[in-house]
Amino acid sequence: MDKLKNKVAVITGGNSGIGFGIAEAFKNEGAVGAIIGRNQNTIKSAVSQLGDDFIGINADVTNLDDLDRIFKETSGKFGKVDIIVANAGGGSTGTVADFSEADYDKLMDLNLKSIYFTVQKALPYMNDGGSIVLIGSNAAHRAHASFTLYGASKAAVIYLAKGFSSDLLNRKIRANVITPGTTDTPAFDKFVPADQIEAVKQHFASVMPIGRIGQPSDIGNAAVFLASDDSAFMLGAELLVDGGMTYLAK
Ligand SMILES: NC(=O)c1ccc[n+]([C@@H]2O[C@H](COP(=O)([O-])OP(=O)(O)OC[C@H]3O[C@@H](n4cnc5c(N)ncnc54)[C@H](OP(=O)(O)O)[C@@H]3O)[C@@H](O)[C@H]2O)c1
Repeated sequence: MDKLKNKVAVITGGNSGIGFGIAEAFKNEGAVGAIIGRNQNTIKSAVSQLGDDFIGINADVTNLDDLDRIFKETSGKFGKVDIIVANAGGGSTGTVADFSEADYDKLMDLNLKSIYFTVQKALPYMNDGGSIVLIGSNAAHRAHASFTLYGASKAAVIYLAKGFSSDLLNRKIRANVITPGTTDTPAFDKFVPADQIEAVKQHFASVMPIGRIGQPSDIGNAAVFLASDDSAFMLGAELLVDGGMTYLAK
């Protein structure tokens, strides 16, 4: 219950899906902090579920001024930050034959540039010995048509965990990455027509070696491990949390 007692965490995308699952798991282990998103309604509803120890900050993680504001506000309220979870991400799909330069820039800004600068902007406000948890994807390991650039952006995030850990050795700040497999979140609404969502989820569950898709709490539990001293010997590591879908045949 107390693995993150009084630790101050910033969770980007903490108002939805995996990010909210991480915020709930952190709260259950005693953390306080801020969740970041752009949708005021989901921020409000997430904060009301998390309680007084969390604030919501409306900010765009692709905007560097917004990133500055996030860490100023959080440390103004709670003091220095101990844990960063760079989770906000997503993006559209398209093959190399049809993805435009504008599509490319938008996806890379959200999935790669935002992670790099979230961490850079956090550093002046972060305690030495802190933990950075990045959210990648198992799409980095297995190609699916139309997920080409998404997978490439997430492969780069796996590298960032190693690079950040090397860069920050002198401050004993560890960075690691979780690569989730298919997880039950509102992201489905963005890719699948409403009347097909349940069928698509059931299809994924039937092809997953473990027999179900992931829940945000599965990723939340892994994030608690990487954020806490239980993973003190891990730097630049990838934790694949995917129900076996990446490497197990079914
Ligand atoms: N679901 C899966 O199967 C799966 C699998 C592997 C990896 N992932 C990764 O897990 C992460 C979370 O995805 P999810 O499935 O939980 O999706 P989700 O429910 O759609 O959540 C995405 C979150 O990112 C935030 N966000 C997006 N763009 C933002 C921006 N420019 N500025 C600030 N916040 C922004 C959204 O908040 P607002 O809408 O309020 O901006 C939302 O909270 C993503 O990085 C995704 O690539 C998901």
